[in-house]
Amino acid sequence: MFFTLYRKMVRPICIVLLSLFLQGCAKPSIHEPVTLTLLEEWSDKRFSEARQQELQQFTQETGIRVSLLPSPDSARQRLVLWRELLGTGASGPDVYGIDVIWPGMLSEYFVDLKPYFANDVSLQFPAIASGYIVDNKLVAVAYRADIGLLYYRADLLRQYGYPGPPKTWDELQSMAARIQAGERAKGKKQFWGFVWQGAADEGLTCNALEWQAAEDGGRIIEQNKTISVNNPQAIRAWQRAAHWVGSISPPGVAGYREWDSLNVWVAGDAAFMRHWPSAYFNSQAPGSPIRNNFDIAMLPGGQTGTAGTLGGWGLAVSRFSPHPREAVELIRYLTRKDVQEKRARMVSQPPTSPELYNLPKVLEANPRFKLLNQAFRTGMVSRPSNVAGNKYQEVSDAYIQAVHSVLTGEKSAPDAAAALENELVRITGFKKGPPLEKSIHPE
Ligand code: GLC
Repeated sequence: MFFTLYRKMVRPICIVLLSLFLQGCAKPSIHEPVTLTLLEEWSDKRFSEARQQELQQFTQETGIRVSLLPSPDSARQRLVLWRELLGTGASGPDVYGIDVIWPGMLSEYFVDLKPYFANDVSLQFPAIASGYIVDNKLVAVAYRADIGLLYYRADLLRQYGYPGPPKTWDELQSMAARIQAGERAKGKKQFWGFVWQGAADEGLTCNALEWQAAEDGGRIIEQNKTISVNNPQAIRAWQRAAHWVGSISPPGVAGYREWDSLNVWVAGDAAFMRHWPSAYFNSQAPGSPIRNNFDIAMLPGGQTGTAGTLGGWGLAVSRFSPHPREAVELIRYLTRKDVQEKRARMVSQPPTSPELYNLPKVLEANPRFKLLNQAFRTGMVSRPSNVAGNKYQEVSDAYIQAVHSVLTGEKSAPDAAAALENELVRITGFKKGPPLEKSIHPE
């Protein structure tokens, strides 16, 4: 596993290091304009094209140039790369895009942005903004808000007589099974009911947390530092998902990352998909076989309600950057209201402040943002990154291994949950206990 990860990492690390080296060779003299390097999560061509346009605009406005570095596809590999670069202490990228779950692990490498952005942050969704604050330090400024959503084929739901998307996971299961059987009977042999992200990567933490949080199964580790994961509701939720593998979901789903599920979905080979808001843009792109035949909804609920995992990305300034002033200017520009508004219209990227969701121009281009606005307020569950701090990746890795072993049938869910509970005690030193009543937190 380590070797494969290592091999997969070598290429992206080499590309980034080479880019940095070439820039180093072309270091400007004092009078030449500054060139910043920016390392973000973009692995999608269309999004990075949109980003390049924004960066050109920024250069026109300020004279500061920006070079955008390439990024690996997997969430786990990105963290390895970011750590590798920051750990050298050398002046690598000036600005880093960081996942909302990383601030507790990477805080020491970044400049406190509070003096520059306190006002802007007070206008953002509180749950989003608070993800980037560690010990009162503003580690990054959110520029993109993510939440787990249900994508469904509206045309097929109509054909099979369903008035709307499923309200519960059990309903999703039976609708997916029926539509899958019907489509296969029509000759679509590779059609599946439901695709999602089951690979042993961060996406699985997000998916599995959604299944269990909706059923009163808690947040793995609660806000009050209780390790709650070993409970009957979480165990049942994992068992139900294990049952999907090979029935309503492809056997290979336990190896799917975001791109794999999106490819099956966009090809028209699935009735439902769990994904982030960004998948809307790809699904609705000109030439997409499912264009205008799908819609989005909040994820199905359970006993507690509906829970989409809060995701998203913020921008941080490296402590080793020789150009912190310009780096702050870049972040100010990329998080600016008009720039976020344009991004929302052009590539349907969800903004970070509630006020932007009500702008007529934005709503007209994305009528579905109404739903997102509601989801960010009422149907969201956060991963336990604030409470786990710099131990978060160990916590998440242990959770991923446990859930993955249940999905592949290697372990029973009760055994996996019991072993995980002990492992989390070892990692964090926290106590065991039941889930808190309110795991799904509104603002
Ligand atoms: C998305 C989310 C991020 C999450 C990742 C998992 O990029 O924004 O928060 O960790 O997916 O794959």
